[in-house]
Amino acid sequence: MSTFEHIIVESQGAVGLIKLNRPKMLNALSFGVFREIAAAIDDLEADDKIGCIVLTGSEKAFAAGADIKEMQPKTFIDMFSSDFTAIGGDRVANCRKPTIAAVSGYALGGGCELAMMCDIIIAADTAKFGQPEITLGTIPGIGGTQRLTRAIGKSKAMDLCLTGRMMDAAEAERSGLVSRVVPADKLMEEALAAAEKIAAMSHPAAAMAKEAINRAFETPLSEGMNVERNLFHSTFALEDRSEGMAAFIEKRKPVNKNR
Ligand code: CAA
Repeated sequence: MSTFEHIIVESQGAVGLIKLNRPKMLNALSFGVFREIAAAIDDLEADDKIGCIVLTGSEKAFAAGADIKEMQPKTFIDMFSSDFTAIGGDRVANCRKPTIAAVSGYALGGGCELAMMCDIIIAADTAKFGQPEITLGTIPGIGGTQRLTRAIGKSKAMDLCLTGRMMDAAEAERSGLVSRVVPADKLMEEALAAAEKIAAMSHPAAAMAKEAINRAFETPLSEGMNVERNLFHSTFALEDRSEGMAAFIEKRKPVNKNR
């Protein structure tokens, strides 16, 4: 297992929990934080018993964006050579296990983008989402113009990226960015319960469902339908599929072997 300075990683049964831990800087996402998130995903993905990963921050901030203090002196070539956006971002988005962002407080800039790299966003009623990069003379760099537009549509994505304004949890739910809004003091309870429920399912079936849904964002409908059909057929090679259907018929709970 890796050791971490900026995040706390634990497992609770079949759920892996990654907690951003730079409270004084509202969990600003430095290169180091992104590297650690990527290493944590590597560890949790390699652990067969983990079936779902929850990513969270603090009560005040999920993450207030990329670390502006670290970025300010950087030049084009510094950013281009380091490929900042790929360091942690791609690793979270490419994780094969289901991921949930549990968002309380600010999810701004890279923080909003990090949440959007997860499969499900569960928001506390205190959550605030935004892409304020324009106020810094830059633009989103890890999905804020792309994933946000696919999630909430062009007009609202333009509104957020061009004005830099924040969207509260209710607006985020109305817009389809988040799957549910819960009272702030229930956020972790709800997110962990959802993660436990997912982790109790057949892990390969969950990975296939995730892969199929992700194809919906990257392919035309006919292509996505083909992928879905092939993955659906593939589930008939799973022991968990024959057990799941047998359990239904025998009126009992299935025992998943995750094979
Ligand atoms: N980077 C570095 N430090 C940050 C930070 C960030 N993104 N966000 C907050 N901090 C620091 C503040 O500088 C402050 O540090 P000091 O105590 O040393 O001054 C500390 O965290 C607490 O912040 P505030 O005093 O500002 O707290 P607040 O409650 O008054 O305001 C806030 C909260 C509205 C979130 C405000 O901190 C803020 O606007 N933060 C910046 C948000 C932002 O612009 N994010 C986009 C970053 S660029 C990006 O993410 C690019 C990309 O797409 C990859």
